[in-house]
Amino acid sequence: MTTTAVYGVHFGDEGKGKIVDFLARDYDIVARWNGGDNAGHTVETRHSKIALHLVPSGILYKGKTNVIGNGVVINLASLKREIEWLISNGIAVSKDSLMISDMAHLILPYYSAIEEKKELTRKIGTTKKGIGVAYALKHDRSGIRLADIEDSDTFEERVKIHAGEYGLDIDAKSILSEQLSLLEWIRQHATIADTVKFFRENRTANILLEGAQGFFLDVDAGTYPFVTSSHASPAGAYSGCLGIKKIDNIIGVMKACYITRVGSGPFVTELGNIVDDKKESVELNEDDDDSVGKYIRVEGREYGTTTGRPRRTGWQDIVATKHSVDAANIGSSFSLALTKIDVLNGLKKIKACTEYRTGNKVMGHFPSSSRELVKCRPVYREFPWAPTDGVTEFEKLPPQTRDYLDFLETETGARIGIVSTGPRRDELIVR
Ligand code: GDP
Ligand code: IMO
Ligand code: MG
Repeated sequence: MTTTAVYGVHFGDEGKGKIVDFLARDYDIVARWNGGDNAGHTVETRHSKIALHLVPSGILYKGKTNVIGNGVVINLASLKREIEWLISNGIAVSKDSLMISDMAHLILPYYSAIEEKKELTRKIGTTKKGIGVAYALKHDRSGIRLADIEDSDTFEERVKIHAGEYGLDIDAKSILSEQLSLLEWIRQHATIADTVKFFRENRTANILLEGAQGFFLDVDAGTYPFVTSSHASPAGAYSGCLGIKKIDNIIGVMKACYITRVGSGPFVTELGNIVDDKKESVELNEDDDDSVGKYIRVEGREYGTTTGRPRRTGWQDIVATKHSVDAANIGSSFSLALTKIDVLNGLKKIKACTEYRTGNKVMGHFPSSSRELVKCRPVYREFPWAPTDGVTEFEKLPPQTRDYLDFLETETGARIGIVSTGPRRDELIVR
């Protein structure tokens, strides 16, 4: 009986989907604790590439229960599309394999319009899925949960509150009838239940908890206000999957040698300017930041799984990584899973930021203020690099790679347990 939480160490898209899919075979339950369909978790098998948004990344295995926890916000239309896609691609989704907390809050169709209006002044670069609106209404106590849909008076009353507050002309009855029909459809493919009771009844099960987004997008821990509206740090699993017991292990997933970010917000090690350059290849000049940034984007296929936006790219940031590892370590054991070690195969050297410089000051800690963070410039340490093509054992990684991994372990104090060497399921080294 063990409970393990997998979280993103940086700004999301670290490869959590791949790692959760790999680990899921040893667990009975895979549960998501935060976020909504802003997430895009990719799982690649030999035959297919699957993008999951709301459904946990354990769905590819038979005999597992995948739980969408109470901390997730759900757009029922989007969930229906995802389930339909999975079924049409031969992945079984059933009342046994998918369970949804009846305490999870809904994202109603007009939330994205509210968000778009807010974006005009806030410019956070959200996914425009209405995630922030759903969490804001939840905390403002006028949100609507799955358990509330069938209570038509409550539903209509709350929609009217929203209409009044946001000056919207909305027909509560037609929204209710649409949500009811979506609910009816979803009920045929998933169990909507009291997941607190489910976790209580499954005390002896092995539970794998899947976080969405990453530590620096966490509403408390992240680069506020350039964050999402949920708790991406593993501490959020306790409230987002109510009923789970002690988390034994934490696994932080991070790209081995670089970081990406989508949307606005400070990014100390960012390389070059973001451009929508869907190029097949890029001419590499290792001494030119712009060229290296583009190279990483193209070689790493760094385009959003959910929105298709090009991801901003930058070198590994040890100051940020240490901060994330330290603050997220709430389990008895903590380890790292490194992904995309193959992406920089064409480079002869890589860099990692070990300190921040602002004016005359050099600092080794991650500042709480985004205003301060924007002023920070990276101080780099350089490492020679060599290709990792075809390596399947940790001990057989090139000495250059081993030196860099030793450095990462020493700096973070965390053991590297998994190294992913390609997008596919089988491209993975377990130490
Ligand atoms: P998540 O949101 O953390 O689950 O990550 P995403 O799925 O949004 O983005 C990670 C991308 O990297 C996906 O396209 C994965 O298929 C891919 N990926 C994962 N691990 C590796 C790896 O080791 N090497 C390469 N080249 N791609 C990887
Ligand atoms: P996964 O789970 C990367 C970013 C958005 C934006 C900010 C707020 O695939 O790692 P939101 O729509 O959540 O209000 O947007 O958060 N963002 C993500 N970036 N990966 C994600 O999820 C993200 N989910 C949200 O780009 O900057
Ligand atoms: Mg993603």
